[in-house]
Amino acid sequence: MDALRRRIGLVAVAFMFAAVMLQEVAAVRYIVGANMGWTSNVNYTIWAQGKHFYNGDWLFFVYDRNQMNVLEVNKTDYENCISDHPLHNWTTGAGRDVVPLNVTKTYYFISGKGFCFGGMKVAIHVENPPPPPSSSPIKSASPSLLSTLRGQIFVPALFTVAAVWDAFVLLL
Ligand SMILES: *[C@@H]1O[C@H](CO)[C@@H](O)[C@H](O)[C@H]1NC(C)=O
Ligand SMILES: *[C@@H]1O[C@H](CO)[C@@H](O)[C@H](O)[C@H]1NC(C)=O
Ligand SMILES: *[C@@H]1O[C@H](CO)[C@@H](O)[C@H](O)[C@H]1NC(C)=O
Ligand SMILES: *[C@@H]1O[C@H](CO)[C@@H](O)[C@H](O)[C@H]1NC(C)=O
Repeated sequence: MDALRRRIGLVAVAFMFAAVMLQEVAAVRYIVGANMGWTSNVNYTIWAQGKHFYNGDWLFFVYDRNQMNVLEVNKTDYENCISDHPLHNWTTGAGRDVVPLNVTKTYYFISGKGFCFGGMKVAIHVENPPPPPSSSPIKSASPSLLSTLRGQIFVPALFTVAAVWDAFVLLL
């Protein structure tokens, strides 16, 4: 009985590790403007079009540190290119600034020093991450299909994780 409980505990821990690893893999770091970087004469509305930004993703601004900067502002200041009172100044001075998109909201970024007026601005709509692909079909599946799915996927997966864990424990 104790051995079984221990085994179940170990499998649970292994699943937690797996879940954390999956989350890490799923987060995306976007280089703003892709190979153009953060500069003038790029339409960032077009760059952001069709992309899905999820809570947990990152933005990476790469630019000429002697000229531009990265300021997070509110919607009004974004529309009017006002850089006097940013919500957050992400400029570190290296010309390479990383912004974690850790709130589900629309972020507004501009470059100060006059560049915003030339179009150096981007609005990033951050959404909640979608549920993992396997969970939605299972949720809506009928009970019999559900048990079939469990039998075919879930149980073998459990054994695989348990086997991997056993191998791991043997190594210790
Ligand atoms: C943005 O900030 C300015 C100055 O603090 C304020 O006047 C304006 O109402 C704010 N706009 C929004 C949408 O919060
Ligand atoms: C933003 O921060 C950088 C680095 O600390 C600083 O040099 C710059 O003056 C700040 N810019 C604004 C608009 O606050
Ligand atoms: C998001 O990240 C910023 C910068 O690291 C941090 O200051 C802030 O507390 C974070 N917000 C949440 C809700 O985690
Ligand atoms: C960027 O492209 C969008 C969509 O084509 C357009 O509506 C917008 O005016 C453009 N922005 C600039 C600064 O040229």
